[in-house]
Amino acid sequence: MTAAVSFKSVSRHFGTVRAVDNVTLDIAEGEFFALLGPSGSGKTTCLRLIAGFEQPTSGRISIFGEDATATPPYRRPVNTVFQDYALFPHLSVEDNVAYGLMIAGQGKAERRRQAGEALELVALSGFGGRKPSELSGGQRQRVALARALVMKPKVLLLDEPLGALDLKLREAMQGELKSLQRQLGITFVFVTHDQGEALSMSDRIAVFNEGRIQQTGSPSEVYDRPETPFVADFVGSSNVLPPEMVRELTGTSAPASLRPEAITLGEGTLSGKVVSLSFLGAATRVEVDTARARLNVLLPKGRPVPAVGDAVMLGWPADALHVMEHAHG
Ligand SMILES: Nc1ncnc2c1ncn2[C@@H]1O[C@H](COP(=O)(O)OP(=O)(O)OP(=O)(O)O)[C@@H](O)[C@H]1O
Ligand SMILES: [Mg+2]
Repeated sequence: MTAAVSFKSVSRHFGTVRAVDNVTLDIAEGEFFALLGPSGSGKTTCLRLIAGFEQPTSGRISIFGEDATATPPYRRPVNTVFQDYALFPHLSVEDNVAYGLMIAGQGKAERRRQAGEALELVALSGFGGRKPSELSGGQRQRVALARALVMKPKVLLLDEPLGALDLKLREAMQGELKSLQRQLGITFVFVTHDQGEALSMSDRIAVFNEGRIQQTGSPSEVYDRPETPFVADFVGSSNVLPPEMVRELTGTSAPASLRPEAITLGEGTLSGKVVSLSFLGAATRVEVDTARARLNVLLPKGRPVPAVGDAVMLGWPADALHVMEHAHG
């Protein structure tokens, strides 16, 4: 099947900054695809390359099988929801949503009809006459979404669309975005630096660091089988065991990841000393110093919690230790 978006060895350099560095990537049609990575890792630059606001320094981008190099942004079947929403403050909600249609030369009646449809899609029927300043943050976010959807893109690019919302609203919008994507069946490329958000919403995730893709895979692949120490640490704060420690435990000399929630305290093979405790609500994080590494242990609510300074034994199921044989950074 033809990929919705395809990057072949794409780089975008700004002077000496390698914002995007030799990225190869295929995003399938209808996929909910997340670009996940820390600040400055190249996520927004990737979106801008797809949208056509940036040109690659080298490499090739195709959209639905067609080379996109010579296609200007407005001719690409993609649309963007920006992090700051970029709504026009002096226009009504309806005129904001209909703006792109007006630029495209649609008549007034048709604009009203389509804007009304898009507002209905994001559950904002009846808000068309308001100004953006008369809306809550979550409602503004929906207007931005309606404004992008009204153009009927085949690929919707979303740059940290939920970043400005509080946790509760953010979680509600995650569910709504996901069901909207299913309902419309269009491809979503979703930028976030929040690993929980990427894991819960996406079909697949590309994990970025310093302009490069560290790993591409399903949420469970990147969470349970990280290919690099960076992915292990960034996606779910896994413990990364140094190669010499892994050699003692398994015979293989390579870094390994070990999920904090996989470790039990009580009986086990590794001894350590508790150095700190953090109460997280549903669990307690226990930091344990062992001879070779400091490890985080996540104790679910209800388990006995040791005290700082206690000597403890750490254990884990054999398959919880994930050796990263091909780790490259
Ligand atoms: N127009 C530009 N000129 C120079 N450097 C740029 C330009 N745009 C981006 N960069 C640099 O490229 C790198 C990647 O930037 P980008 O905006 O893609 O990161 P990001 O992953 O979206 O980060 P954030 O999570 O903070 O939004 C950064 O080091 C940034 O400073
Ligand atoms: Mg960004």
